[in-house]
Amino acid sequence: MSSHNSEINSGNLIEVKDLSFAYKKNDWILRDINIRIKKGEVIGLVGDSGSGKTTFAYILKGIIPQIFKGYLKGNVYINHLDIRKAKIVQIAKIVGMVFQDLNSQLFSNTVKEEILFGLQNLKLNLDWGKEAMDFLNIESLAEEIPMNLSAGQKQRVILASIIATKPKLLILDEPSAHLDFKGKYSLLKNIKRLNSEYNTTILLISQDPWIIGELCHHILYFNNYSIKYQPTEEKIQKVPQWSWIL
Ligand SMILES: Nc1ncnc2c1ncn2[C@@H]1O[C@H](COP(=O)(O)OP(=O)(O)O)[C@@H](O)[C@H]1O
Ligand SMILES: [Mg+2]
Repeated sequence: MSSHNSEINSGNLIEVKDLSFAYKKNDWILRDINIRIKKGEVIGLVGDSGSGKTTFAYILKGIIPQIFKGYLKGNVYINHLDIRKAKIVQIAKIVGMVFQDLNSQLFSNTVKEEILFGLQNLKLNLDWGKEAMDFLNIESLAEEIPMNLSAGQKQRVILASIIATKPKLLILDEPSAHLDFKGKYSLLKNIKRLNSEYNTTILLISQDPWIIGELCHHILYFNNYSIKYQPTEEKIQKVPQWSWIL
């Protein structure tokens, strides 16, 4: 363990130090970001369109700089792993991400194959696929063709394929964007259960005050190249019990 790593408080899952990023020279999207996030927290990432939320998520997942290049300064550690230096496979074992575009994440002929694919790739226990399908209640879709499913079902399949690998950090990029009310409600319940039963740390990028208010302990507010970390504000309305509608 490097001297830096030993300084990280063991209660923190994510440590971001002096992080700056630009896709084009001197055109900074993120500037001098310093954040620590504790294990088991649910964090909402909010901010205007184009404020850098997806970019930040790509840095945590190692997509930047491994796939998208740019000008990156500073350090990111997740579960003591130096994300800038780690191999994609090492990162894949601890960070799972559901991208905004559902269709680009589905490529198998059946739901079951879709869920086993990641486990096979990472050489993990294939039984975890069944556990994830049970958890999201999609066993009945096992033989279906993923591309033929509804948006809500596609999202549950993608979520199952990721939670099957038991990531320590789950990033969801605007997951409620394609969903109807019932779909949003089910997403909300599943995220809550995932956090309470598996203690998964969750970063939720969302424009939906209801989802943020219901789920998130803290908010990361992206504004003007920087990020402010604050408790979920009281003014974000908490909705009590809507289940009677469904
Ligand atoms: N691959 C890219 N190359 C160049 N600029 C990009 C790229 N992706 C995003 N951007 C720019 O970076 C800024 C932040 O984008 P993004 O992280 O997608 O914001 P958000 O997710 O908050 O809407 C935007 O101005 C966007 O146009
Ligand atoms: Mg985005």
